[in-house]
Amino acid sequence: MAGYLVEDQRKVTTHRLFQMKTEGKKIAMLTAYDYTTAQIVDGAGMDVILVGDSASNVMAGNITTLPITLDQMIYHAKSVVRGVKRALVVCDMPFGTYQVNATEGVQNAIRIMKESHCDALKLEGGEEIIKTVKAILAAGIPICGHLGLTPQSINKFGTYTVRAREEAEAKKLVADAHLLEEAGCFAVVLEKIPAKLAEQVASELKIPVIGIGAGGAVDGQVLVIDDMLGMTKGFTPKFLRRYADLSQVMTDAIGDYIRDVKDRKFPNENEQY
Ligand code: KIV
Repeated sequence: MAGYLVEDQRKVTTHRLFQMKTEGKKIAMLTAYDYTTAQIVDGAGMDVILVGDSASNVMAGNITTLPITLDQMIYHAKSVVRGVKRALVVCDMPFGTYQVNATEGVQNAIRIMKESHCDALKLEGGEEIIKTVKAILAAGIPICGHLGLTPQSINKFGTYTVRAREEAEAKKLVADAHLLEEAGCFAVVLEKIPAKLAEQVASELKIPVIGIGAGGAVDGQVLVIDDMLGMTKGFTPKFLRRYADLSQVMTDAIGDYIRDVKDRKFPNENEQY
């Protein structure tokens, strides 16, 4: 049964997210990259599942999100969609698939939608990609923006530190958020920016603002599942709350299995034909 924490079992739409903001209901968003995990996340009642390009880090072991390809994102998104009944599934457009020009961006966006059957896409950036954002929206594809610490630009930033602390960057972020809303985006993710600034953006925009490291005064929260379940090690930003220590749970279970195999305790009589 999808969504044991929610009463409304209907498929979540971008319109429903807009209503949630209007009604003051918080939006829960979490990443997933595969079928089995997506089934669990959806079954728990998640509103939005993000097939993040953080798959590049947590699935493939890359240092940044830059190497993941369009084909790889489509593979992850397809797997997630097969496991989801209720949540809105948003797929990241990977680095290099929308920055060249609007035509290429639309072609790649259409490929993701056609092949993965996801519900919407997420793109990083504001004014510098607005032409492409408008062209993809004109093709009928819903877009979630992403501002602040945009990991596809990590080589330009040179650091994963909090963004938009300085006035000029904060002003540009607010202007970019408005541009994305005016273009027709259905939501904006704000990553690792001061809580006060995120609060300002959330209060100025009509569309939902989803935060990661952006404080509690926004319309919803997103985390990377491997981080919040405690599967990843050594990634300890201040904003991350760990809801489980799955790394330990898995290590203990795997250790028990190894011991049982070595001690000839697995399989037992009931576990064979
Ligand atoms: O790729 C991702 O997981 C993301 C979230 C951190 C917002 O973009």
